Amino acid sequence: MLDDIQSLRDSAREDIESASGLKDIHDLRVKYLGKKGILTSYLKSLGSIAKEERREYGQTLNETKGLIESLLNGREEDLKSSELEKNLASESIDVTITGRKIPFGHLHPVTQVLDEIISIFISLGFTVEDGPEIEHDFYNFEALNFPKDHPARDMQDTFFINDDVVLRTHTSSVQVRVMENNSPPLRVIVPGKVYRCDSDVSHIPMFHQLEGFLIDKNIRMSDLKGTLELFIHRVFGPETSIRLRPSFFPFTEPSAEIDISCVICNGSGCNVCSSTGWIEILGAGMINPHVYENAGYEPDMYTGFAFGLGIERVAMLKYGINDIRLFPENDKRFLDQF
Ligand code: DAH
Repeated sequence: MLDDIQSLRDSAREDIESASGLKDIHDLRVKYLGKKGILTSYLKSLGSIAKEERREYGQTLNETKGLIESLLNGREEDLKSSELEKNLASESIDVTITGRKIPFGHLHPVTQVLDEIISIFISLGFTVEDGPEIEHDFYNFEALNFPKDHPARDMQDTFFINDDVVLRTHTSSVQVRVMENNSPPLRVIVPGKVYRCDSDVSHIPMFHQLEGFLIDKNIRMSDLKGTLELFIHRVFGPETSIRLRPSFFPFTEPSAEIDISCVICNGSGCNVCSSTGWIEILGAGMINPHVYENAGYEPDMYTGFAFGLGIERVAMLKYGINDIRLFPENDKRFLDQF
């Protein structure tokens, strides 16, 4: 009988030593010490043992129980600490590793240039106005002195919604809208999208313009020139010269094309300025009295100037970009450079 107990001890020791996890320890505790466990069944059989042997046998069983318990506890501690070490190793954080960069966007180059231009005019006391991109023929053409069937309309390849509604071809369309709701003095800029049915290296069907106009009493062409010169100097630097070339727009009289000395070659001639040393940058002029009339003003009461410039064109010159189609393409390799 004592031999049985010895082999029970041996098998328990073997089992416990080969336990590989806390689950095994739990199972072994049940196997040996549980209600229906092996050692428990020995203890239960104590009654059937002869009286003179019972005392020694009971003592041995109790010692065995204690032994198995302490073996289980010892192995349990070992397993717990090695599991902890394993977890610490697998969950450890390397605080010296460099952080992973979160890709961070920035403003589109057209927006950057537009914001810069807007802030220059705000510093000169201009206010920013807005108007619809889907526009009545009246505000886009008629009110700006483009009569129906007038050849000047061909200057702008228009997207028609119907006979009377167009996608605005220029932000000049907001001039008469502002005039109708406000009286001079007016100092207004209108940044926004415009649409033309045209596409090549220097034209895209949707692009951005900024229209500006100033209306008051006794405004002269020299005010126009001074304002634009200051603006050009702020955008392209004070060494940039400007020149006014006679031109035609139905809504200004006289009208001018404004050129700047080439920002690439400083006026000595290159392929950007077609060897002329000058680059056309915007259209401008003194507001035609017919426009005042169409807005409901008395034509002789006020004078003023207007100008319009393409934002992509300014961005191309500022950053040396040679294909306007890169702007709407939104290729990250292009955008990341600004
Ligand atoms: N609206 C013209 C265009 O898109 C640009 C322009 C020319 C605007 C002369 C003006 C101006 O205000 O006076 O081609």
